[in-house]
Amino acid sequence: MKPDQPLEPHPVLPEYYPDLAQRPAFVRGLFDHTARHYDHVNRLLSFGSGSWYRRRALLRVGLRPGMTVLDVAIGTGLVARQAVAITGDPQAVIGLDVSAGMLAEVRRLLNIPLIQGLMERLPVADACCDLVSMGYALRHVADLNATFREFHRVLRPGGVLLILEIARPAAPFKRALLKFYLGRLIPLLSRLTTGQRDLQTLMRYYWDTIETCVPPETIIQAIRAAGFAEAGCDVEFDLFRAYFGRKAGGAEPADD
Ligand SMILES: C[S@@+](CC[C@H](N)C(=O)[O-])C[C@H]1O[C@@H](n2cnc3c(N)ncnc32)[C@H](O)[C@@H]1O
Repeated sequence: MKPDQPLEPHPVLPEYYPDLAQRPAFVRGLFDHTARHYDHVNRLLSFGSGSWYRRRALLRVGLRPGMTVLDVAIGTGLVARQAVAITGDPQAVIGLDVSAGMLAEVRRLLNIPLIQGLMERLPVADACCDLVSMGYALRHVADLNATFREFHRVLRPGGVLLILEIARPAAPFKRALLKFYLGRLIPLLSRLTTGQRDLQTLMRYYWDTIETCVPPETIIQAIRAAGFAEAGCDVEFDLFRAYFGRKAGGAEPADD
């Protein structure tokens, strides 16, 4: 691991874009075009459990009223909605996303401060929040090392990072099953239930980036290399990953 060198989450996928330079525009365009249907497809693939899972993850890393949150890659606000419910203060949760389409969707649903920008270069001050959260967007950044350094910079001492992601299961049978479900069935159902071809592409891309993503150990190492004093990952069903890290310093979290 060379923390000063760029760490791409997955190699170029020529089926979608020809080279690395084209990837950000492809990703932004894909999310812009599918934003309207994102919540629908999310319910489809998680059987409606997505909000519950995100809420539980936020509580597990210690989110509570009085804390400030930066939710990067906010999308339609599935993580941010839970953060607002827990903190009880819409002004304590800031959302950031690169996609204007996604920001337009979340604006309809949540009255919180929103920023259009890249998580690799966060346009916010040093040490401005207690929690940085990112749901299911790790595979889309240009450079994991630079992104994690940004997360570390904007957290207050003692602040916490939470990254939710899916990783391909190690067991071949489970992997084959998931490949069929996420790589074939969900893309097809997404198009059939909305009539939108872009949504089918988004969901195929979802699986292809999961399948080719760097392994969880590399992600944990990169979080550590960015300066986080504690870095680890909670795993469920060899599939759902909640990566966490804590910035050194600050008061010890209080036991309830
Ligand atoms: C799969 S959605 C996740 C939405 C939400 N966090 C959730 O939990 O469902 C990924 C989001 O990441 C955003 N995104 C992708 N690359 C980004 C980048 N480099 N900087 C900021 N946002 C980015 C996309 O526009 C999209 O809204």
